[in-house]
Amino acid sequence: MNISETLLAATKRLQASSSSARIDTEILLCHVLDCNSAHLAAWPEKKLSPGQAQQFDQLISRRETGTPVAYLTGKREFWSLELEVTPATLIPRPETETLIEFVLEQFKQQKKCHVVDLGTGSGAIALAIAREHPDWEITATDISQDALTVAQKNAAKHQINNVEFKISHWFNALKGESFDIIISNPPYVAEGDPHLLNGDVRFEPAISLISGKQGMDDVEIITAEAGRYLKNNGWLILEHGYDQKKQVQDCFEASDFKTIVQKTDLPGQSRMTAGCRTSTEYTTKTS
Ligand SMILES: C[S@@+](CC[C@H](N)C(=O)[O-])C[C@H]1O[C@@H](n2cnc3c(N)ncnc32)[C@H](O)[C@@H]1O
Repeated sequence: MNISETLLAATKRLQASSSSARIDTEILLCHVLDCNSAHLAAWPEKKLSPGQAQQFDQLISRRETGTPVAYLTGKREFWSLELEVTPATLIPRPETETLIEFVLEQFKQQKKCHVVDLGTGSGAIALAIAREHPDWEITATDISQDALTVAQKNAAKHQINNVEFKISHWFNALKGESFDIIISNPPYVAEGDPHLLNGDVRFEPAISLISGKQGMDDVEIITAEAGRYLKNNGWLILEHGYDQKKQVQDCFEASDFKTIVQKTDLPGQSRMTAGCRTSTEYTTKTS
């Protein structure tokens, strides 16, 4: 079959299982042919080799059973960085770019900055910030060694040298350190949330997604402990669920964050809470 016929037949096959059948098909065919979508449009009559046809057929079969496109191609773009992703990492989401935009705007005057990205996964947040600020000192942590290995590969691939990687259960490996920015997209889905039964999340690591009965366990731990690891006027910046705005604000207030900023993502969903603390406030509270 040629490119045009292959696209048509595969789109039909995926229609029952994917709401983005045509796009999925194009991405997977580009992956097999190692080309971009302009090539598909320019050469509709070009025939696939038997090997290419077989590889493509196998990918479409796996997509039919729900495997995310990013796991099939092994990559996903985030902040214009093509990142390797594997089933050990969350697939980076566009809404997480809201956190990057906030950091770039809020700290645009800052020449030096010590940042930690907690639960870095593929390295998306740490590497995007590092790419924008090569002079900043960035630490990226995760509890999963497999995820950290992927993040390290992504740093090497993009020749990003200002990120240090550490295995850590939240702040455990950071004792005695202090940061200007603590940033995280922690797990925040409630156990038993029906969304876990549909789409890509079925294939992503549970440890990336699920955080106790209300989805708030990890947000609570991080907001409670962050003060110990923030410099004076340091910021904690967290991604959270679209429906967790009030609960996350309460956690920040309970941990003495006085200046609290909340942001929505591009579709207008509440997604990010950031708070600033001074060490005086922390000292007062703990003395
Ligand atoms: C929602 S994913 C975010 C991944 C990446 N930062 C992103 O935005 O694409 C949460 C990440 O936190 C990590 N994680 C879960 N529990 C953790 C813990 N107790 N300590 C450190 N990292 C943890 C997971 O392995 C996962 O990589």
